[in-house]
Amino acid sequence: MRLKNIKGAMEYVENSDYVVHDLEKNKGKWNKLFENEENDIHLEIGMGRGKFIIEMAQNNTNINYIGLEMYDSVIYKAIKHLENLEKRPNNLILIRADANKIDEFFEKEISRIYLNFSDPWPKAKHAKRRLTSKQFLNKYDKIFKDNNEIFMKTDNDDLFEFSVQTLIEHGYKLENVTRDLYNNMNIVNVATEYEEKFVKQGITINRLEAYRNGDKWKRRVKRGRFSFPKRKNWEKELKKRTVPFLSLHFWK
Ligand SMILES: C[S@@+](CC[C@H](N)C(=O)[O-])C[C@H]1O[C@@H](n2cnc3c(N)ncnc32)[C@H](O)[C@@H]1O
Repeated sequence: MRLKNIKGAMEYVENSDYVVHDLEKNKGKWNKLFENEENDIHLEIGMGRGKFIIEMAQNNTNINYIGLEMYDSVIYKAIKHLENLEKRPNNLILIRADANKIDEFFEKEISRIYLNFSDPWPKAKHAKRRLTSKQFLNKYDKIFKDNNEIFMKTDNDDLFEFSVQTLIEHGYKLENVTRDLYNNMNIVNVATEYEEKFVKQGITINRLEAYRNGDKWKRRVKRGRFSFPKRKNWEKELKKRTVPFLSLHFWK
């Protein structure tokens, strides 16, 4: 999301209490910035105007949230949203950063990452820029605390199928996978701003949860007890839109 340049947005973001600027200084100790520092930290990368992360923070006071976004004009809108709330959530921090540098300011402290309607970067030559590319998954490995959890939603089928592949190849187990979220509303769902727009247009929403138990999968690969699922099987499964809610358990 790149809004038209808003005059004064940069200064506004710089002076806002909601935004933490000294990123490297907090590496490994972001929890200290929250009132309840023992709570898990969930991070949304590319939060846009912040609708999702703000509602999540309001609904789940036992979790600490960080919303990351790279554009001032967009963060400005998120701050305005927060300023209009009756009660300010004390479990939410916003940061202005490029996700490419994520491992420079987080270290073994994030419990879950949300990727909502991330830019699809459709050209093959830009695949590395997708937030579920191998390059990004390697960076996320450094910032997760114990276990890795990535929750993803997207309207973009190609990005979704690419992500299923990269996540599986990176040792993740996928659960609660759906090609049509709004026909599976047994999931507790907080809609993002983009999501609301797409749903109004009748566009179906893909969603998945990806879990990995730390680095154990690497040890299994080394010992030769690990096998990737046959690619054609999950591709076939994913294309079955008539069975929109899949639970893919590839490893015991
Ligand atoms: C398509 S918008 C989705 C916004 C929001 N998540 C939603 O669902 O409504 C993608 C957002 O990710 C941000 N973004 C893209 N690449 C990023 C990066 N490398 N680092 C930080 N933010 C990024 C964009 O600025 C944009 O606001």
